Amino acid sequence: MKNELKIFCGGDWLSLSMDKQDYELLDTGEGEKIERFGPYVFVRPYEDAVWKKTLDKKVWEKIDGKFWSSKVGAKSGWTFKNNVQHPMLHKMQKKWEMSYKGVKFLASPTPFRHLGFFPEQSTHWDFIEEKIKSYYSSIFLNREKEMHPSPTLPEGEGEMVPGYFTTDPKLWKRLKDRALDMRKNPTKGEKVAWDVLRRNETEFHFRRQQIIDRFIVDFVCLEKRLIIEVDGDIHDFKKEEDKERSEILKKFGFEIIRFSNEEVINKTDNFLHKVNLKLKTISRNSLSFGEGWGGVNDPNDKSSFGEYRGGVDNSDLRGVDNTNDIKKIKFLNLFGYTGVASLFALRAGAEVTHVDASKQTLEWVKENQKVAGMENMSMRIILDDALKFLAREEKRGIKYDAVIMDPPKFGRGPKGEEWKIERDLPKLLSLVRKVLSDKPLFVILNSYAIDSSALSLGYTLEDTMQGLGGEIKQGELCLLEKSKGRTIPLSNTAIWSL
Ligand SMILES: C[S@@+](CC[C@H](N)C(=O)[O-])C[C@H]1O[C@@H](n2cnc3c(N)ncnc32)[C@H](O)[C@@H]1O
Repeated sequence: MKNELKIFCGGDWLSLSMDKQDYELLDTGEGEKIERFGPYVFVRPYEDAVWKKTLDKKVWEKIDGKFWSSKVGAKSGWTFKNNVQHPMLHKMQKKWEMSYKGVKFLASPTPFRHLGFFPEQSTHWDFIEEKIKSYYSSIFLNREKEMHPSPTLPEGEGEMVPGYFTTDPKLWKRLKDRALDMRKNPTKGEKVAWDVLRRNETEFHFRRQQIIDRFIVDFVCLEKRLIIEVDGDIHDFKKEEDKERSEILKKFGFEIIRFSNEEVINKTDNFLHKVNLKLKTISRNSLSFGEGWGGVNDPNDKSSFGEYRGGVDNSDLRGVDNTNDIKKIKFLNLFGYTGVASLFALRAGAEVTHVDASKQTLEWVKENQKVAGMENMSMRIILDDALKFLAREEKRGIKYDAVIMDPPKFGRGPKGEEWKIERDLPKLLSLVRKVLSDKPLFVILNSYAIDSSALSLGYTLEDTMQGLGGEIKQGELCLLEKSKGRTIPLSNTAIWSL
């Protein structure tokens, strides 16, 4: 099995635009770290920081709260600005909204020094979403052995030359004339949008009126799997249909943003700004070519046309939802805490099972699901001891394609069942292996229990996954510190994937 040692830098927080960057690791040193969570700044113990602080003392003092570890002060716990005992009494709300790449969730200081999520885990959130989406894309692209290209129109001509393979032969035959016609006759909004997008002002290559599965989308950046739809008035009457179409395209791993004709024409700069922001939040670098997509750049696509008719009408294809035959990825989050990883799996289209031993924490998961606007997406939220749950799933023959587990050093199940990582990890991993499907997608083993190094986590996971091929990456989950640019290690992790 290929085995690689890595530093996983959850520094993607920093690549988000300033107004979207809800978390920052401001500085570290002298056994502490100072971080901004949304509007609030906190100091927490960070024993690894044996070096000096970089930022001024005044910065370290102008904070909203501080967690005192029992090693330093008389008792461990939080103190808040103006000496209030609890953030409820302070101007802070009990929980406040945070967001990472468009997924919203809640933060609040907890008695265990955390704030309801671990920012460095953003590495895992990106990985989970990308892996699941890639799985759906590859199924979609490989569904038909013989793929046909979407038509690409050379400038001034009506001929077709091969472009990207994003649909199957039957649908392509049915839709190609309409796609060409729509390129020739754009709405005014589509024309303005294309004038901006074709100049590559976004630094990404967009295609227009591309056939994707049974749909003709207005604009698509295949590299980022981003679709832009420019809607005219007709869409006001087609909300349901658009929703269905978006759901299906999402299952294939595309993200969609919609603009009205009016918005594109009258606020073109704003349109470009929003597209750029969206491109930034999509972490995937490129499609895995060779899985059915036909090549890279098409030099023939220099098309520029005059006025159009517009409006995408797929009405004759309504009800042809052949995504139903796509097997859904079953994702299991063990020791799942407040469930941010579960939300990313849910957004990617997985069937999610979330297990934790704390009732209070599971209430938080439900709140997060609501805040994220995903309450209509079903998620199994289970209060159970992780080992008991796995044993039960094994008996029932229930299988999972993707698992993340982040076992604490010590914990208790809801009925007082004792969890000790040194004693119970082998049992946990052997049960996880038993509930894995024949061709799993990935397994992540994370641990903050500092005396298990990344290498030992990696070797343990390698043993567990023996016989399945794939590769192991192990290393430290880190965050970039803003003050001096250090890469700050926060957790050990091992990732197996196929
Ligand atoms: C370190 S947190 C996991 C953090 C999570 N990976 C995240 O990023 O949000 C550990 C979680 O394990 C849960 N836990 C502790 N003992 C457990 C047990 N025996 N069975 C299931 N969950 C348990 C705790 O309630 C806690 O939510």
